Amino acid sequence: MGTVYLVGAGPGDPELLTVRGHRLLKGADAVVYDALVNRELLELVPTSAERFDVGRRKGEKRIDQEQLNGLLIHLAGSRDGVVRLKGGDPFVFGRGGEEALALTDAGVDYEVVPGVTSGIGALAYAGIPLTHRGLASSATFLTGHQVLREPGDSPTPSTGSLGRPDGTLVVFMGLSRLDEVATELVRGGWNPGTPAAIIEWGTYRRQRTVVGTLLTLPARARAAGISRPALAVVGEVVRLRRRIRWFPEDPEAERSSPEVAPEPEEASGMDWTLFTDTEGVRSHAPAPTNRVLAVGVDTGERLRELGHEPDLTLRSGHPVAVVTAMRALGPVEGHTVTIVQGKPGQEELVQLLRTLGARPLRLAYGGVTSKWV
Ligand SMILES: C[S@@+](CC[C@H](N)C(=O)[O-])C[C@H]1O[C@@H](n2cnc3c(N)ncnc32)[C@H](O)[C@@H]1O
Repeated sequence: MGTVYLVGAGPGDPELLTVRGHRLLKGADAVVYDALVNRELLELVPTSAERFDVGRRKGEKRIDQEQLNGLLIHLAGSRDGVVRLKGGDPFVFGRGGEEALALTDAGVDYEVVPGVTSGIGALAYAGIPLTHRGLASSATFLTGHQVLREPGDSPTPSTGSLGRPDGTLVVFMGLSRLDEVATELVRGGWNPGTPAAIIEWGTYRRQRTVVGTLLTLPARARAAGISRPALAVVGEVVRLRRRIRWFPEDPEAERSSPEVAPEPEEASGMDWTLFTDTEGVRSHAPAPTNRVLAVGVDTGERLRELGHEPDLTLRSGHPVAVVTAMRALGPVEGHTVTIVQGKPGQEELVQLLRTLGARPLRLAYGGVTSKWV
């Protein structure tokens, strides 16, 4: 029975592979590798060795974790040196622990070779120290999923579970829902003006970094066309990039995503009118220059009957869903958001809009004899 080596490949730059990882790859009989492993590393593997690409790319049905564990156990039965090569560090959001447990249960010998996680390596190449005296004395690694939580979780996350505002937060796998992640962090207690960056293809020659604030980063990342792999960094340490920037990023790419200092933006674009229920619809006509949003299909229908075509009809009035949808249409910061409702409510939405730099103006109607308040 051979040994399985769970080897961290590092974040991308092949030079960041450990000496031990390098030696094991050169002597491997079989290598099982992920999508995020730099293919240049495979050149170290003897041509006689078997290669298994088990990377799961979005939209592709690939080998599942159980089959993968089975493959490792099977290979250990007939090969001496099986290298399981994983992006970054095997034990950081890489399911390396699950593979180690499966090998333990199967009685297969294994060793773990740590790698440079992208949560440290990509930041270092972007000139962002993970911690820095006086700016950040702690760091938190989270995935986008953990920030967003699943339905049924507590509605107001504690700041502690989303990192500490006096520390650095690194968010893995959060790019596709960056708007929601940023909004949720603000709701969880982070200041919307906190410097934030997104690093794409960290440590590769094609690395790109876009800088902004928690408020502006999602739009800037979108404008720059940032794609995966990418991770987001939130915290005061992002400011240091301006002075510690040592790794040359692709000048072509930078032209299309000019780095912008994390400063508040001038308000531009349109104000908003948000109808949160059907009752307020008859009592208020939105300004023609405003973007109009309706919460609920019925509300949207009523508006249409009165000749006001909503720009968007939302199914959910959940504050994060509302704000995320608004920010996908245009900026909210610096803008007036007129919230029209039959009865006063949505305190959390009002609070969140204020935190994001908007001016919520509530028009609540208490019935025929009451006045707008
Ligand atoms: C499944 S996790 C694996 C993390 C890996 N074990 C590590 O330690 O870096 C994949 C996520 O890591 C981040 N990531 C990995 N390599 C990256 C890179 N070179 N640049 C930016 N982000 C990277 C991205 O957020 C990506 O979606």
